[in-house]
Amino acid sequence: MGSIDLKVRLFRQEDLDRVMEINVTCLPENYSSFFYMDIYHRSPQTFLVAEVGEVIQGYVMCRIERAMSKVKKLSLAKLSHVVSIAVMKPHRQRGIATALMHKAMENSVKYYGATECFLEVRVSNIPAIKLYDKLGFKQTRRIYGYYMNGEDAFEMAKPLNEENQQNE
Ligand code: ACO
Ligand code: ZN
Repeated sequence: MGSIDLKVRLFRQEDLDRVMEINVTCLPENYSSFFYMDIYHRSPQTFLVAEVGEVIQGYVMCRIERAMSKVKKLSLAKLSHVVSIAVMKPHRQRGIATALMHKAMENSVKYYGATECFLEVRVSNIPAIKLYDKLGFKQTRRIYGYYMNGEDAFEMAKPLNEENQQNE
């Protein structure tokens, strides 16, 4: 992690304003405080923040869902859905999102028994697609007109296993 003082920890209610600020600054998909707290109450172990020198500079939030597998057709699975992830611009490309994703996947297995992780990403969002590629996600389908402005999404997914519990 080079020399940055990075700490990934669980989200707490008092982090909400900062997380919403990061979301609004970094992404066009914004949510109500109720939406964040609902995800937190459902899956507290997979809502994480990244602190650099005690200031939150990134977050990831996942929702655990029982649904059809994205990677193994016609089977029911426990999925960890990465609803949103962002890192403040001056802190990007230092491994913060990678650290958040590793911990979120680890906790998805450890606390919720998730068997795969999935997400949607804009087809134009090259930094994010590269991040997910590097983490071993595969494109599972293209969702036409998924976003408000009509842009398509790639759905990307990755099977999870015990290995995701060992990268502490
Ligand atoms: N260009 C090309 N590849 C990139 C870039 C970039 N600008 N940024 C990250 N990557 C890829 C690289 O492969 C990188 O590995 P490397 O550094 O060894 O080359 C890998 O991703 C990991 O990078 P991290 O440093 O861990 O990622 P970072 O902390 O910079 O965060 C993120 C990546 C979250 C996509 C950030 O750019 C961001 O906040 N963007 C705006 C918000 C956003 O797009 N969020 C994702 C939306 S999809 C969703 O939320 C499900
Ligand atoms: Zn989604």
